[in-house]
Amino acid sequence: MTHNDNHIEEEDTLTNRQGHPITNNQNLRTVGNRGPATLENYDFLEKMSHFDRERTPERVVHARGAGAHGYFETYGTVGNDPVSKFTRAKVFQDKGKQTPVFVRFSTVIHGNHSPETLRDPRGFAVKFYTEDGNWDLVGNNIKIFFIRDAMKFPDMIHAFKPDPITNIQDVERFFDFCASSPESFHMVTFIYSPWGIPANYRMMQGSGVNTYKWVNSDGEAVLIKYHWEPKQGIKNLTQQEAEEIQAKNFNHATQDLYDAIANGDYPEWELNVQIMSDGEHPELDFDPLDDTKLWPEDQFPWHPVGKMVLNKNPEDFFAEVEQVSFGTGVLVDGLDFSDDKMLQGRTFSYSDTQRHRVGANYLQLPINAPKKRVATNQNGGQMLYKRDLAPGQNPHINYEPSMLGGLHEAKQNAKEYTPFIEGNLVHESIDRQSNTKQAGETYRNFEDWEKDELLENLIGDLSSCDEKIQKAMIALAEEADEDYGRRLKEGLQNANKHSSTQRPLANNDGDKAPEDAIEKGH
Ligand code: HEM
Repeated sequence: MTHNDNHIEEEDTLTNRQGHPITNNQNLRTVGNRGPATLENYDFLEKMSHFDRERTPERVVHARGAGAHGYFETYGTVGNDPVSKFTRAKVFQDKGKQTPVFVRFSTVIHGNHSPETLRDPRGFAVKFYTEDGNWDLVGNNIKIFFIRDAMKFPDMIHAFKPDPITNIQDVERFFDFCASSPESFHMVTFIYSPWGIPANYRMMQGSGVNTYKWVNSDGEAVLIKYHWEPKQGIKNLTQQEAEEIQAKNFNHATQDLYDAIANGDYPEWELNVQIMSDGEHPELDFDPLDDTKLWPEDQFPWHPVGKMVLNKNPEDFFAEVEQVSFGTGVLVDGLDFSDDKMLQGRTFSYSDTQRHRVGANYLQLPINAPKKRVATNQNGGQMLYKRDLAPGQNPHINYEPSMLGGLHEAKQNAKEYTPFIEGNLVHESIDRQSNTKQAGETYRNFEDWEKDELLENLIGDLSSCDEKIQKAMIALAEEADEDYGRRLKEGLQNANKHSSTQRPLANNDGDKAPEDAIEKGH
């Protein structure tokens, strides 16, 4: 017996998870006060063995994050049209209707508790608890991505994450992948500019990045891009500003979000959509399904469709921010996928990793469960704690179809969207790759200080890379913009001359001294 029958129990009495009151939380149960300890001490074993399991696998990407609760409020319109012209999704209908949301912001490459000042995309994932079930919009701050085919994602992440031997991130591995994947040049141009270090989570944009579809009640679809615009304004950091913050506080973005909400200064974003008719759009010099491209705003204007307010901090970081599980497959009626090959690959990956990271029944956790009724025939698996029974359902019937009081299929109440698809099965990249044109436009749109930062950062990191990599990056910059290419080339020539006496480039045969790797840091 480890619990004491003579205890006095009150509302705030400490118990173990069996509900037994704990009368001594300071001392092991021992033979005399000098020990040895006994092994039947249930309270100690429960406490310590739970502690031993306090960590679950961290996210393979986007491990460091911060989250908050809030709501989305729809405007009910797209320009002068009712939103129903384009989508029947209930979350967007009826101006003023509010839907609860949970948002998680994140950095991508490094582990949980890594500094929030690093040059990296920022995640911007929103879970809408809609009346039709959950909708997840899993986006980033930057509106495009490094690659356009999901097949390349694990390689890209391996190249960006720390070296498998030194466990140190290495710019040479980063640029080796990027120089060999020219579609990444547009994203590299953003990431190496101040846009690669947002000042905090409240003052950054968000974007769905991939191309989705909206479907109306006639079963007609349009292509859609989603963009969040912060009402707080946008602020990015120079490398030096980021270093100064990091020297004092490597949690600054989490703290900024938490403090703002705790002080009642609720951050807000407006959700905008860009719309394109469904089709290949041969008149464009890019493919609408290519996530390395921006949709030009003069041709495809941003239409505000609603706003989001974050007004409540999590009550428990682990239960909410750590265990929340977003996925691009989580759509509701009126929202659909496009054939964007990144989106299709992502849609497999998210729920697959969450079954491993959180567990088979991750959707029963309060943060992930929809706020509407759930009725499934799924049963069993680790940590299942209840059946998803409907009221009045015969609990013996965990299959469908049945005549004995089980669950039955929903009725389709709007015209199904049934796109026609034919073609040969191939392993091929898309036509209209246009890998550098928009990078040149983005460069020319930067302010002077942003261009200066971009070049300084690129030259700084590329100067320690193999010459083959430097040449390939210069060629991409020259193709993008004459000024961009010239400045990168001249900058690297000067840096190389300089570093040939002070710090030799890494050997071409890859025989690199560990000290070299330590000085790099992307
Ligand atoms: C997180 C895979 C591309 C945004 C994740 C996770 C995986 C993953 C496995 C961890 C999920 C978890 O443990 O819960 C992929 C794959 C991609 C891809 C396979 C490409 C084929 C992208 C793109 C974006 C993005 C293009 C931006 C639109 C995010 C965000 C998170 C995330 C924001 C963090 C979600 C959270 O806060 O829990 N991704 N990703 N990913 N990804 Fe991706």
